[in-house]
Amino acid sequence: MESEYSDGERTRRGSEVADTLKPCAPAPRGKDPDIERRVAIVTGASRGIGKAIALRLARDGRHVVAVARNAGALADVVAAITAAGGSAEARACDLADAAAFAQLVEDVASAHGRLDILVNNAGITRDGLILRMSDEDFDTVLSVNLRSCFAGCRAASRHMLRGKWGRIVNVGSVSGISGNAGQANYAAAKAGVIGLTKTIAQELGSKGITANVIAPGFISTDMTDGLPQIVKDKAIEHIPVRRFGTPDDIASACAYISSDEASYVTGHVLVVDGGMTM
Ligand code: NAI
Repeated sequence: MESEYSDGERTRRGSEVADTLKPCAPAPRGKDPDIERRVAIVTGASRGIGKAIALRLARDGRHVVAVARNAGALADVVAAITAAGGSAEARACDLADAAAFAQLVEDVASAHGRLDILVNNAGITRDGLILRMSDEDFDTVLSVNLRSCFAGCRAASRHMLRGKWGRIVNVGSVSGISGNAGQANYAAAKAGVIGLTKTIAQELGSKGITANVIAPGFISTDMTDGLPQIVKDKAIEHIPVRRFGTPDDIASACAYISSDEASYVTGHVLVVDGGMTM
């Protein structure tokens, strides 16, 4: 059948369709897109996963505010960052005190006039079977792993809204997805982190702020070093890549999810577990 369009017209319409199918330009990013000066708070940055995240974000040009209780260990992290040409500062804080952490977020934002990235990574375990788990162990884990995360997100989001750009990265755990015998408190807190993060993603998505969870599997840090070798060997049998992860495996995920490249990724739970829970 004869086409109703001339060849020229067909070409023009074809290219209009192709234009429509092109990915949208990224949303405007707000005031200052100079990533060199982005300020990132990383909790639990004195060692393990948090330290690796702090080093990586600094290497990517962020100014890192390293938070944990141990001022001496934080000073070493800051020294390592500055020796490598990065920019960082240490702020000692006990995250069991959520109000103190919220105040720290306020102080950092007002000192720098901005807050772009918040990585709630600090976490603790107080494992035990539910029949023997004390109220205190339940509350302590909820307080450090979930309540401080909430307080930090609430405080940070005000400043991110002002900057019209923000990345909230909450470190959860595969235990928060699947549960884990002996970790009722920890799994409840990490599941709470997922619900909290998805809610923030819904509330702030239209404002240039994303919120995501990274859910590690077994990662070699002080937290897992104490596991008996037999438990580690058994776990590795269920990990398709046949090894524990490294803190750098999580830092790489964090670098991506806190970058401009991840502006269309929000409310996501990024499982980094070598395939263990697929
Ligand atoms: P880690 O025990 O090596 O380091 C924890 C960090 O949190 C330290 O810097 C510590 O000082 C800080 N911290 C703990 N309690 C604090 C408090 N009250 N106030 C301030 N800072 C506090 O732990 P790791 O392995 O580096 O874990 C980091 C995150 O990753 C945690 O949220 C943990 O639940 C999560 N995770 C770790 C896994 C692993 O296999 N290592 C697996 C799944 C999740």
